[in-house]
Amino acid sequence: MANEFDRYNDTETIERDMSKKVKVGIIGTGWIAEAHVTRYQKMQDVEIVALADIVPGKAEKFAKAFGVEGARIYNSDIELLDSEKDLDAVSICTYNVQHAPCAIHALEHGVNVMLEKPFTVTLDEAIEVMRAEKKSGKILTIGFQPRMSQNMQMIKKIVDSGELGKVYYLQAGGGRRHGIPTPYGTSFIAKDTGGVGAVGDIGAYSIDMLMQAVGYPKPLTVSGYTSAYFGTDPNYYSSHPEYAKAFEVDDFSAAFVRLEGDIILDFRISWAMNMDTAGDALILGTKGGLRIPSTECWNGEFTRPLTVYRDICGQNMQYEVPLLPSCDFFYEKLRSFIDAVKTGGGATVPTSQIIYNQAIIDGIVKSAEIGREIEITIPEV
Ligand SMILES: NC(=O)c1ccc[n+]([C@@H]2O[C@H](COP(=O)([O-])OP(=O)(O)OC[C@H]3O[C@@H](n4cnc5c(N)ncnc54)[C@H](O)[C@@H]3O)[C@@H](O)[C@H]2O)c1
Repeated sequence: MANEFDRYNDTETIERDMSKKVKVGIIGTGWIAEAHVTRYQKMQDVEIVALADIVPGKAEKFAKAFGVEGARIYNSDIELLDSEKDLDAVSICTYNVQHAPCAIHALEHGVNVMLEKPFTVTLDEAIEVMRAEKKSGKILTIGFQPRMSQNMQMIKKIVDSGELGKVYYLQAGGGRRHGIPTPYGTSFIAKDTGGVGAVGDIGAYSIDMLMQAVGYPKPLTVSGYTSAYFGTDPNYYSSHPEYAKAFEVDDFSAAFVRLEGDIILDFRISWAMNMDTAGDALILGTKGGLRIPSTECWNGEFTRPLTVYRDICGQNMQYEVPLLPSCDFFYEKLRSFIDAVKTGGGATVPTSQIIYNQAIIDGIVKSAEIGREIEITIPEV
């Protein structure tokens, strides 16, 4: 069964008008901006015309390091958007708390947006961004590159085939034993930059993997838990014990989420824990079950195959789904965005789905704060 991503698994078959160049700006020139720039540089029909970072000199340095000296340099997203009159698109590569303001500014300037994950920090912010998106009529896609993995897509294909029957239970797995992301400082772990911790950072991927497989049912209630026993412990860090003081978000999170259609999402994610993995991800249906091996859900790589469990002729049977070839998911995510900009197509990872992802993250944080289950209310856009 084909799905909307299949055409990106063989990029050679797509005909593109390469003479039409898409003018792109990069907002935020930190760690992930490198992945954006190096992929755009492989596309003959993309020109990186502008870079912005609020840290003085950072964008210039980045331009030199990655061979984009021709790009104009700005000191903020607003400066870039106000000055560049001919811009088609931006990649927003800022830390999480700046996702919403930068996306709103870009959409208000009539610019298409590739917004890094997580969508935003809070549900309210995400709603504001969606309102700006609606008003602008521009493309806004969220940067979940695992969606481009054929193995990830197979999860949805199996559910859609009816092989599992009615799905009633989703269990998130994976997580890191020792992986608080501090490669270039504290932007993931401080409240005023990261906003949320593991639950927003890699939890967003884990939620997306399962939710997109079952068609993104609306979340109804959530009972959430968050903790920060590792990030706040100076002994956790081999070289920067001072990060313990800067740590203001969660490093572990768990939740029980009720979804429309009588489906339960049993969720856990971790940047740090005394365990190698929180287990495999599971999808249980009335006719079959699917085991998704504990995997790097944030990059889409699978090292072990999916397993389907079914009863056939009264016998408990199980079979493995052969692993499908990998590709450069990051390239494909940006390629699909540029193609949408050129053709006026829809977002590959639309906000209409990811608003539910954000609602779950927001619900987990709020429920954890008050220590009880809460109802999830999603305002109209
Ligand atoms: N898709 C992926 O695989 C992946 C991987 C890593 C990070 N990310 C996401 O990318 C985002 C950035 O992560 P990072 O590790 O690059 O962070 P980072 O802290 O290294 O870089 C963010 C940069 O944005 C700049 N910035 C902030 N506000 C700005 C503004 N208004 N205008 C211009 N520049 C601004 C900061 O000064 C900083 O240089 C995060 O939201 C993260 O979740 C995605």
